[in-house]
Amino acid sequence: MSTRLLDSAHRLYRVADLDALVKQLSRHNSTRANLRLVKPFDDAAFVAEVEARLKALDDRTARSTLGYIEIGRMLLDRKERGKQDGSIPHGEWVPWLKKKFPKAVQRLQEYMRVAKFLDTADTEAKNRVLVFCHQGFHAVLQQVHSEERLSKRKPKPAPLLDDVEGEKLRILVGDCMLRLKEIPDASIDCVITSPPYYRTLIYPGAITTFGGDPGCGGHDWDMRSKVITAYGHRSTASPENPYFVRREFLPDEEKTIQFGRCKKCGAESCSLGWEDSPQEFVAHLVQVFAEVKRVLKPTGVLWVNIADTFSDKELLAVPERLVIAMKDAGWLFRSHVIWHIPNRTPESAKDRPCRDHEHIFMFGQRPNYWFDADSLREPAISKDDPRRGKRVTYNGKYDGNSGFGQQSFAAIREDGSRNRRTVWSIPKQPFPGEHYAPMPEKLVEPLLLSSCPKGGVVLDPFAGIGTTGLVANRLNRNAVLIETSAKYAGMAKQRIEGRANEENAIIEEPTVEAAE
Ligand SMILES: C[S@@+](CC[C@H](N)C(=O)[O-])C[C@H]1O[C@@H](n2cnc3c(N)ncnc32)[C@H](O)[C@@H]1O
Repeated sequence: MSTRLLDSAHRLYRVADLDALVKQLSRHNSTRANLRLVKPFDDAAFVAEVEARLKALDDRTARSTLGYIEIGRMLLDRKERGKQDGSIPHGEWVPWLKKKFPKAVQRLQEYMRVAKFLDTADTEAKNRVLVFCHQGFHAVLQQVHSEERLSKRKPKPAPLLDDVEGEKLRILVGDCMLRLKEIPDASIDCVITSPPYYRTLIYPGAITTFGGDPGCGGHDWDMRSKVITAYGHRSTASPENPYFVRREFLPDEEKTIQFGRCKKCGAESCSLGWEDSPQEFVAHLVQVFAEVKRVLKPTGVLWVNIADTFSDKELLAVPERLVIAMKDAGWLFRSHVIWHIPNRTPESAKDRPCRDHEHIFMFGQRPNYWFDADSLREPAISKDDPRRGKRVTYNGKYDGNSGFGQQSFAAIREDGSRNRRTVWSIPKQPFPGEHYAPMPEKLVEPLLLSSCPKGGVVLDPFAGIGTTGLVANRLNRNAVLIETSAKYAGMAKQRIEGRANEENAIIEEPTVEAAE
C-alpha cells in the first residue's frame, strides 16, 4: 500500500467509514495484482523496504496497524510470486522468510495472517476486525483468531419450533408450567432437573406462568421488562478448544428480564430466577414441582440440582430455603448430595472460602420408592480389610441391641464395593458453544441409573440443551424434555440425535469395579 493510500485509509478509518476503507483496500489489491505482471521482484530492495517499514512502524496507532497489515500483504504477494516464477517453490516459504528476516519471522507471519484474512473475509467480518485497529496490531490479530475460530464452528442447530414426538424421546417446546399439564398423571418414573438458579443467568425469552384462571380464554398480559445492566457478558467456548472461554458483551435484548400479570385473570408471568426475593423464587419452584409431582409415579423420585447466590456479600441460602419449602409442601427429603466441582471457576473473594460445590437434592413422595442402590456402589476405602462383609465387635463392648461398640464391615461387599456416599466429585463438562450451565453427563448418569428402571421414562422440565435426554438415550431410558427456548431445544435435539446416530450409542450400564 503506498503512503498516500495508507493515509487515505487511515483518514477513512478515523471517520469510522469502515465500508469505504474496505473498498479502498480491495481496490488496492487489484491495482497490486496488475503491477505484479509488469514489475519483477528485486529481493534485496524488497527486504530493505520491509525492514524500513518495520522500523518506521513502532507505535500502536491505527496507522501503524494498517502499516503492519500492508507489510503482511507485501509478503503474501512475494510468496505468491515465488510460487509462480519458481523462485520460492512450495514448502520453501518459511525457510526463505527465516533467511531474509531471521529476527522477525513470527511477527511477519502474523502480519500475513491478518492480511490474508482481510483479503478473504466478508465485509462484516472485515469491519469487526478493523474496528480494533486503533488498539494496535495485537488486538486485530486476536480478533482474527476469534473470527477464524467462529467460522470453523459447526452450523448452529435450527431453533426447534415444533415438538419432537419420538417413541424414546419427546421434546416439548414451551413453558413447563403449561406443557406439564399435557402429561398424564403418574406416567413418569423419575425427574432429573436443574432449574434456573436465583439471579444467576438470563435465559432470553424464558417466561414462566403461575396461577390465574386456565379458562381465561387467552391472557391479556400487562408485561414490563428490565435490562439487568450488571449482566454484561457471556462466555463462549470453541469446538477446537472447549476449555477456552471467550467473553463477549451482550446486546440489551439478551440481558432483559420480563414480568407481569394477566389483566383478566391475574395470572403471573416472570423470568424464573429473577424474582424480587429468594422467597418468591422458591415459592415459584415449589409450584413447578407440585405440577411435577402430579405426573410422577408414586414410586418415583425427583432430583434437583441447585446452587446458592451471593447478594450484598452474603449467601441467600436459596438451596436451604428450597428444601424447607419442599418439605412443607409434602415432599420427603431423602438425600442431599454435595456435588464437588473440582474445575469450578475460582472466586476472587479473599474473606471467605472459595465455593466449589453445588447441591443435588433427592425428594420422594413416600417411604418406599424405586431405587437401584447397586447401580451407585463405589469402591470401599477398607475394601481389603479381611472383616469385610461381617459385623464385628471390639473391646467386648458390643451391645447387640443398640449397635454400640459395633464396627460394621457388613456394608462392604466381597467385591470391595460399598454404598455410594453423598459427596460426588465430578468436573463440569465443557460444552462447545454458548456456555450456560449444562449438567455434566457424569452427574446425570448415577441419578438416572439409580432412579429410573431400564425402559422407564425420565422427565426434565428445564431441559436446556438436553443432557438428561442424552444420558437417557445412552442408557436405554425414555425421556420427556421441556424447554422454553426454541434455540436450546434445537441444540438438545441436535445433541441427542447426533449421539443416537453414533455407533453403539446405547451402551451397557457401567458396573462398579472393585478397586485394585
Ligand atoms: C440450568 S438450565 C438447564 C440446563 C440443563 N440441565 C442441561 O444440562 O442442559 C435451565 C433451563 O431452563 C430453561 N427454562 C427457564 N424457564 C423455563 C420454563 N418456564 N419452562 C421450561 N424451561 C425453562 C432455560 O431456558 C434453561 O435452558
